[in-house]
Amino acid sequence: MEVTRTFAETRAKYEGTVGLLPTLGFFHEGHLKLMDLLRDRCDTLVVSLFVNPTQFNVEEDFDAYPRDEGRDAALAEAHGVDVLFAPPLEEVYQGVSVTTVEVTGVTDEMEGRHRPGHFVGVATVVAKLFAGLKPDVSMFGRKDAQQLAVLRAMVNDLRFPIEIVEAPVVREPDGLALSSRNVRLSSQNREQARAISRGLFQASEQIDAGERSAERLEGTVLRSVRGLDTDYVKLASQATMKPIPELDQPAVLAVATSVGEVRLIDNVALDFIDGKPVPDRGVMLDEPSELTSMP
Ligand code: PAF
Repeated sequence: MEVTRTFAETRAKYEGTVGLLPTLGFFHEGHLKLMDLLRDRCDTLVVSLFVNPTQFNVEEDFDAYPRDEGRDAALAEAHGVDVLFAPPLEEVYQGVSVTTVEVTGVTDEMEGRHRPGHFVGVATVVAKLFAGLKPDVSMFGRKDAQQLAVLRAMVNDLRFPIEIVEAPVVREPDGLALSSRNVRLSSQNREQARAISRGLFQASEQIDAGERSAERLEGTVLRSVRGLDTDYVKLASQATMKPIPELDQPAVLAVATSVGEVRLIDNVALDFIDGKPVPDRGVMLDEPSELTSMP
């Protein structure tokens, strides 16, 4: 595996079709699953590792984001990555960067409402990665459901000739969605955080049993996360990322809540198969994550 610092140096390594997995680094089993899935879809697998300052709302969050390039490089190499692109800030933002990408509409609610400017940072950096690296295919996790909708809209509007593939949420055996932020959970917070997926799974069972009311499905999740500092629980359309009163189209049941100092998001995608909503609960690890319990 090669570690590169510039767009040009990275492109010089390509052979055949190119897959790009954009990341903020500090890999966990969720990232490794995405690497494995994308490995099967391309000849050259590129993973970008860049803690993008423009998508963090609070400077402390950016400072607190865990970083360990040596650890990430070893994990990427073990998962068949050909190139780890770890650019310095100047390579991405070139001192003065005057262009931003703003996706409207799908950013109005949920994360867009609670983290002003976040999606401009995400869309801008991913547009830079797509323009600079020119991959054929790229992959994003369903855990960031609204991010996926934003990036799909951007790729469509800006005519990037790039296939976007969605990957399932990867979960701990007890249901907690993997996130690099989980390393910051105290053991008490870690226990409390189980309420998030528990609520989503209870609502999924109600959906399987025929429940379609947003109010009742959201109520189930809200009861489960009672006591946590919850920003929202919303049933939203997958197409518009706007709240819907009834589950009558592909949707997500999404939640954002803070456990102690750590803000977590999770969702269950509700795909329609043969006219019926089918909850995508993601995939569970057989053993507890080792990579998100490291100090
Ligand atoms: O999902 C993430 O890890 C980030 O938002 C992304 C897509 C790598 C952009 O910095």
